[in-house]
Amino acid sequence: MRGNRDFRHAFLRAVNTVTEFSPAKINLFLAVTGRRADGYHDLVSVAAPLDFGDELTVQVNPAGFTLSCDNPEVPVDGNNLVLKAAHAFAVTTGWQGGADFKLTKRIPLGAGLGGGSSNAVAALRALNRISGAQLTTAKLAEVASSLGSDCALFLKNAPVIMRGRGERIEVLPDVSRLRGRRVLLFKPGFAISTAWAYGRMAARQTDYLPADQAEQKLAAWGQGEAPAEQLLFNNMEGAAFEKFIALPVLLGKLLNEFGLRARLSGSGSACFVLLGDDFVTVPLAARIRECWGPAAFVQEARLT
Ligand code: C5P
Repeated sequence: MRGNRDFRHAFLRAVNTVTEFSPAKINLFLAVTGRRADGYHDLVSVAAPLDFGDELTVQVNPAGFTLSCDNPEVPVDGNNLVLKAAHAFAVTTGWQGGADFKLTKRIPLGAGLGGGSSNAVAALRALNRISGAQLTTAKLAEVASSLGSDCALFLKNAPVIMRGRGERIEVLPDVSRLRGRRVLLFKPGFAISTAWAYGRMAARQTDYLPADQAEQKLAAWGQGEAPAEQLLFNNMEGAAFEKFIALPVLLGKLLNEFGLRARLSGSGSACFVLLGDDFVTVPLAARIRECWGPAAFVQEARLT
Protein backbone atom coordinates (compact mmCIF):
# COMPACT_ATOMS: atom_id res chain seq x y z
CA MET A 1 0.00 0.00 0.00
CA ARG A 2 2.62 2.44 1.21
CA GLY A 3 4.83 1.64 -1.80
CA ASN A 4 1.94 2.38 -4.17
CA ARG A 5 1.25 5.69 -2.52
CA ASP A 6 4.93 6.64 -2.68
CA PHE A 7 5.00 5.70 -6.35
CA ARG A 8 1.90 7.82 -7.09
CA HIS A 9 3.47 10.76 -5.26
CA ALA A 10 6.65 10.42 -7.28
CA PHE A 11 4.60 10.17 -10.47
CA LEU A 12 2.50 13.22 -9.66
CA ARG A 13 5.62 15.22 -8.94
CA ALA A 14 7.26 14.21 -12.20
CA VAL A 15 6.98 16.82 -14.97
CA ASN A 16 7.62 16.81 -18.68
CA THR A 17 9.55 20.04 -19.21
CA VAL A 18 11.53 22.20 -16.83
CA THR A 19 13.70 25.27 -17.24
CA GLU A 20 16.59 25.84 -14.87
CA PHE A 21 18.54 29.05 -14.43
CA SER A 22 22.25 28.24 -14.55
CA PRO A 23 24.15 31.06 -12.84
CA ALA A 24 27.70 32.24 -13.38
CA LYS A 25 29.99 32.55 -10.35
CA ILE A 26 32.96 34.64 -9.35
CA ASN A 27 35.73 33.81 -6.89
CA LEU A 28 36.10 36.77 -4.55
CA PHE A 29 38.90 34.96 -2.71
CA LEU A 30 40.99 32.22 -4.28
CA ALA A 31 44.06 30.86 -2.55
CA VAL A 32 45.55 27.84 -4.30
CA THR A 33 47.61 26.21 -1.58
CA GLY A 34 49.54 23.47 -3.35
CA ARG A 35 49.58 20.56 -5.76
CA ARG A 36 48.31 17.18 -4.60
CA ALA A 37 49.53 13.68 -5.37
CA ASP A 38 46.49 13.14 -7.67
CA GLY A 39 47.53 16.13 -9.84
CA TYR A 40 44.73 18.42 -8.62
CA HIS A 41 45.35 21.45 -6.45
CA ASP A 42 44.05 22.17 -2.97
CA LEU A 43 42.46 25.55 -2.50
CA VAL A 44 40.60 27.78 -0.11
CA SER A 45 38.11 30.00 -1.91
CA VAL A 46 35.05 32.17 -1.42
CA ALA A 47 32.79 32.04 -4.45
CA ALA A 48 29.38 33.51 -5.06
CA PRO A 49 26.78 32.74 -7.71
CA LEU A 50 25.43 35.68 -9.71
CA ASP A 51 22.00 36.72 -10.96
CA PHE A 52 23.50 36.48 -14.46
CA GLY A 53 23.76 33.13 -16.24
CA ASP A 54 22.59 30.61 -18.81
CA GLU A 55 19.24 28.92 -19.15
CA LEU A 56 18.75 25.18 -19.58
CA THR A 57 15.40 23.84 -20.80
CA VAL A 58 14.94 20.12 -20.41
CA GLN A 59 12.19 18.11 -22.08
CA VAL A 60 11.57 14.41 -21.59
CA ASN A 61 12.52 12.29 -24.59
CA PRO A 62 12.36 8.54 -23.94
CA ALA A 63 14.68 7.94 -26.93
CA GLY A 64 17.76 9.24 -25.09
CA PHE A 65 19.75 12.38 -24.29
CA THR A 66 20.37 15.17 -26.83
CA LEU A 67 21.81 18.67 -26.46
CA SER A 68 21.44 21.81 -28.57
CA CYS A 69 22.88 25.26 -27.90
CA ASP A 70 22.36 28.71 -29.43
CA ASN A 71 26.15 29.29 -29.37
CA PRO A 72 27.89 27.28 -32.11
CA GLU A 73 31.19 27.41 -30.18
CA VAL A 74 29.74 25.17 -27.47
CA PRO A 75 30.41 21.47 -28.14
CA VAL A 76 27.12 19.55 -28.03
CA ASP A 77 28.67 16.07 -28.08
CA GLY A 78 29.51 13.78 -25.19
CA ASN A 79 32.27 16.17 -24.06
CA ASN A 80 29.70 18.70 -22.89
CA LEU A 81 29.22 18.60 -19.11
CA VAL A 82 25.43 18.67 -19.57
CA LEU A 83 25.50 15.28 -21.30
CA LYS A 84 28.14 13.97 -18.89
CA ALA A 85 25.83 15.01 -16.03
CA ALA A 86 22.87 13.30 -17.69
CA HIS A 87 24.75 10.03 -18.04
CA ALA A 88 26.04 10.25 -14.46
CA PHE A 89 22.46 10.87 -13.29
CA ALA A 90 21.17 7.84 -15.22
CA VAL A 91 23.91 5.59 -13.83
CA THR A 92 23.40 6.80 -10.23
CA THR A 93 19.61 6.61 -10.17
CA GLY A 94 18.95 3.80 -12.63
CA TRP A 95 16.55 6.16 -14.46
CA GLN A 96 15.77 4.68 -17.88
CA GLY A 97 14.43 7.88 -19.45
CA GLY A 98 16.06 10.47 -21.67
CA ALA A 99 15.77 14.19 -22.32
CA ASP A 100 16.41 16.92 -24.86
CA PHE A 101 18.49 19.74 -23.37
CA LYS A 102 18.29 23.22 -24.89
CA LEU A 103 21.02 25.53 -23.62
CA THR A 104 20.77 29.29 -23.99
CA LYS A 105 24.37 30.36 -23.46
CA ARG A 106 25.20 33.76 -22.03
CA ILE A 107 28.21 32.93 -19.83
CA PRO A 108 31.38 33.21 -21.94
CA LEU A 109 33.55 30.10 -22.32
CA GLY A 110 37.02 29.79 -20.76
CA ALA A 111 36.24 32.71 -18.48
CA GLY A 112 36.61 31.38 -14.93
CA LEU A 113 32.91 32.11 -14.44
CA GLY A 114 31.98 28.45 -13.95
CA GLY A 115 29.64 28.21 -16.94
CA GLY A 116 30.23 24.53 -17.79
CA SER A 117 30.08 23.43 -14.15
CA SER A 118 26.91 25.43 -13.58
CA ASN A 119 25.28 23.87 -16.67
CA ALA A 120 26.10 20.40 -15.33
CA VAL A 121 24.41 21.15 -12.01
CA ALA A 122 21.40 22.67 -13.79
CA ALA A 123 21.08 19.41 -15.75
CA LEU A 124 21.22 17.33 -12.55
CA ARG A 125 18.61 19.54 -10.86
CA ALA A 126 16.31 19.38 -13.88
CA LEU A 127 16.58 15.60 -14.21
CA ASN A 128 15.93 15.19 -10.51
CA ARG A 129 12.67 17.13 -10.94
CA ILE A 130 11.67 15.48 -14.22
CA SER A 131 12.28 11.92 -13.09
CA GLY A 132 10.83 12.38 -9.63
CA ALA A 133 14.01 10.57 -8.54
CA GLN A 134 14.54 12.83 -5.55
CA LEU A 135 18.27 12.34 -5.27
CA THR A 136 19.25 13.70 -1.88
CA THR A 137 21.28 16.89 -1.74
CA ALA A 138 24.25 14.89 -0.48
CA LYS A 139 24.04 12.47 -3.41
CA LEU A 140 23.59 15.36 -5.87
CA ALA A 141 26.72 16.96 -4.42
CA GLU A 142 28.65 13.71 -4.83
CA VAL A 143 27.60 13.31 -8.48
CA ALA A 144 28.23 17.02 -9.15
CA SER A 145 31.76 16.86 -7.71
CA SER A 146 32.59 13.85 -9.86
CA LEU A 147 31.86 16.02 -12.92
CA GLY A 148 34.04 19.02 -12.04
CA SER A 149 35.88 20.50 -9.06
CA ASP A 150 33.71 23.61 -8.79
CA CYS A 151 30.34 22.01 -9.59
CA ALA A 152 29.20 21.54 -5.99
CA LEU A 153 29.12 25.26 -5.23
CA PHE A 154 26.20 25.63 -7.64
CA LEU A 155 23.99 23.47 -5.42
CA LYS A 156 23.90 26.14 -2.71
CA ASN A 157 22.41 29.32 -4.25
CA ALA A 158 24.54 31.32 -1.80
CA PRO A 159 28.09 32.59 -1.29
CA VAL A 160 30.20 29.65 -0.16
CA ILE A 161 33.63 28.74 1.16
CA MET A 162 35.24 26.02 -0.95
CA ARG A 163 38.02 23.74 0.20
CA GLY A 164 39.77 20.58 -1.00
CA ARG A 165 39.92 20.68 -4.78
CA GLY A 166 36.72 22.77 -4.62
CA GLU A 167 34.24 20.05 -3.70
CA ARG A 168 34.08 20.72 0.06
CA ILE A 169 31.45 23.42 0.39
CA GLU A 170 30.19 25.44 3.31
CA VAL A 171 27.76 28.34 3.04
CA LEU A 172 29.45 31.55 4.19
CA PRO A 173 28.41 32.13 7.84
CA ASP A 174 27.12 35.65 7.12
CA VAL A 175 25.92 35.71 3.51
CA SER A 176 24.58 39.26 3.90
CA ARG A 177 28.15 40.56 3.73
CA LEU A 178 28.25 39.62 0.04
CA ARG A 179 24.71 39.03 -1.15
CA GLY A 180 23.30 41.75 -3.38
CA ARG A 181 26.68 43.37 -4.07
CA ARG A 182 26.90 44.85 -7.53
CA VAL A 183 29.68 43.73 -9.90
CA LEU A 184 30.83 44.45 -13.40
CA LEU A 185 32.17 41.40 -15.25
CA PHE A 186 34.45 41.91 -18.22
CA LYS A 187 36.37 39.52 -20.41
CA PRO A 188 38.74 39.97 -23.34
CA GLY A 189 38.23 38.13 -26.64
CA PHE A 190 40.53 35.27 -25.59
CA ALA A 191 39.83 32.44 -23.17
CA ILE A 192 42.10 30.74 -20.60
CA SER A 193 42.03 26.98 -20.08
CA THR A 194 41.71 26.03 -16.40
CA ALA A 195 44.05 23.06 -16.83
CA TRP A 196 46.65 25.35 -18.47
CA ALA A 197 46.45 27.89 -15.63
CA TYR A 198 46.92 25.25 -12.92
CA GLY A 199 49.74 23.73 -14.98
CA ARG A 200 51.52 27.11 -15.10
CA MET A 201 51.13 27.51 -11.34
CA ALA A 202 52.72 24.10 -10.85
CA ALA A 203 55.59 25.05 -13.16
CA ARG A 204 56.16 28.47 -11.55
CA GLN A 205 56.01 27.05 -7.98
CA THR A 206 56.20 30.58 -6.53
CA ASP A 207 52.49 31.44 -6.37
CA TYR A 208 51.11 28.97 -3.82
CA LEU A 209 49.93 30.33 -0.50
CA PRO A 210 50.40 27.81 2.36
CA ALA A 211 47.07 26.50 3.64
CA ASP A 212 47.47 27.92 7.16
CA GLN A 213 48.12 31.40 5.76
CA ALA A 214 45.14 31.10 3.42
CA GLU A 215 42.90 30.13 6.34
CA GLN A 216 44.27 32.98 8.48
CA LYS A 217 43.58 35.49 5.71
CA LEU A 218 40.03 34.24 5.29
CA ALA A 219 39.42 34.10 9.05
CA ALA A 220 40.70 37.68 9.48
CA TRP A 221 38.04 38.91 7.05
CA GLY A 222 35.38 36.56 8.41
CA GLN A 223 35.84 37.72 12.01
CA GLY A 224 35.80 41.42 11.20
CA GLU A 225 33.30 43.66 9.50
CA ALA A 226 35.39 44.73 6.53
CA PRO A 227 33.58 45.13 3.21
CA ALA A 228 33.80 42.59 0.40
CA GLU A 229 36.54 44.68 -1.26
CA GLN A 230 38.97 43.61 1.47
CA LEU A 231 38.34 39.94 0.86
CA LEU A 232 39.50 40.10 -2.76
CA PHE A 233 42.50 37.87 -3.47
CA ASN A 234 43.51 35.52 -6.28
CA ASN A 235 46.92 33.85 -6.49
CA MET A 236 46.17 32.45 -9.95
CA GLU A 237 46.69 35.95 -11.34
CA GLY A 238 50.48 35.55 -11.56
CA ALA A 239 50.30 32.71 -14.07
CA ALA A 240 47.61 34.40 -16.17
CA PHE A 241 49.12 37.92 -16.09
CA GLU A 242 52.56 36.67 -17.12
CA LYS A 243 51.24 35.40 -20.45
CA PHE A 244 48.13 37.49 -21.09
CA ILE A 245 49.49 40.99 -20.51
CA ALA A 246 46.30 42.67 -21.72
CA LEU A 247 44.84 41.67 -18.33
CA PRO A 248 47.25 43.48 -15.95
CA VAL A 249 47.54 46.42 -18.33
CA LEU A 250 43.80 47.12 -18.22
CA LEU A 251 43.51 46.40 -14.49
CA GLY A 252 46.29 48.94 -13.88
CA LYS A 253 44.44 51.53 -15.96
CA LEU A 254 41.18 50.96 -14.07
CA LEU A 255 43.00 51.51 -10.78
CA ASN A 256 44.69 54.71 -12.01
CA GLU A 257 41.75 56.20 -13.85
CA PHE A 258 38.75 55.05 -11.78
CA GLY A 259 40.31 54.09 -8.44
CA LEU A 260 38.84 50.59 -8.89
CA ARG A 261 40.64 47.38 -7.91
CA ALA A 262 39.48 44.70 -10.34
CA ARG A 263 40.43 41.03 -10.03
CA LEU A 264 40.65 37.94 -12.19
CA SER A 265 37.84 35.43 -11.53
CA GLY A 266 39.12 31.89 -10.96
CA SER A 267 41.65 31.00 -13.65
CA GLY A 268 40.30 33.78 -15.93
CA SER A 269 40.15 35.25 -18.43
CA ALA A 270 37.13 37.13 -17.03
CA CYS A 271 37.74 39.88 -14.50
CA PHE A 272 35.33 41.60 -12.16
CA VAL A 273 35.09 44.70 -10.07
CA LEU A 274 32.78 45.43 -7.13
CA LEU A 275 30.76 48.59 -7.58
CA GLY A 276 28.78 50.90 -5.33
CA ASP A 277 25.08 51.08 -6.13
CA ASP A 278 25.39 54.66 -7.42
CA PHE A 279 28.42 54.05 -9.62
CA VAL A 280 27.75 54.96 -13.26
CA THR A 281 29.21 52.18 -15.38
CA VAL A 282 29.06 53.78 -18.85
CA PRO A 283 32.57 55.37 -18.85
CA LEU A 284 34.06 52.24 -17.27
CA ALA A 285 32.50 49.92 -19.86
CA ALA A 286 33.62 52.30 -22.62
CA ARG A 287 37.23 52.26 -21.35
CA ILE A 288 37.22 48.45 -21.21
CA ARG A 289 36.01 48.22 -24.80
CA GLU A 290 38.52 50.86 -25.87
CA CYS A 291 41.39 48.77 -24.46
CA TRP A 292 40.18 45.27 -25.33
CA GLY A 293 38.18 46.04 -28.46
CA PRO A 294 34.44 46.17 -29.12
CA ALA A 295 34.12 42.37 -28.90
CA ALA A 296 35.00 42.42 -25.20
CA PHE A 297 32.29 40.97 -22.98
CA VAL A 298 30.96 43.46 -20.42
CA GLN A 299 28.11 42.52 -18.10
CA GLU A 300 26.67 43.94 -14.94
CA ALA A 301 25.37 41.53 -12.28
CA ARG A 302 24.75 41.08 -8.57
CA LEU A 303 25.96 38.43 -6.14
CA THR A 304 23.11 36.16 -5.01
O1 C5P B 1 37.80 19.55 -12.04
P1 C5P B 1 37.88 20.20 -13.38
O2 C5P B 1 37.62 19.25 -14.50
O3 C5P B 1 37.06 21.43 -13.50
O4 C5P B 1 39.38 20.69 -13.54
C1 C5P B 1 39.97 21.00 -14.76
C2 C5P B 1 41.46 20.91 -14.61
O5 C5P B 1 41.93 21.96 -13.76
C3 C5P B 1 41.94 19.64 -13.96
O6 C5P B 1 42.20 18.65 -14.90
C4 C5P B 1 43.21 20.07 -13.27
O7 C5P B 1 44.26 20.10 -14.19
C5 C5P B 1 42.94 21.49 -12.89
N1 C5P B 1 42.47 21.66 -11.48
C6 C5P B 1 43.38 21.53 -10.46
N2 C5P B 1 42.96 21.68 -9.17
C7 C5P B 1 41.68 22.00 -8.89
C8 C5P B 1 40.76 22.15 -9.93
C9 C5P B 1 41.18 21.96 -11.22
O8 C5P B 1 44.57 21.25 -10.68
N3 C5P B 1 41.32 22.17 -7.63
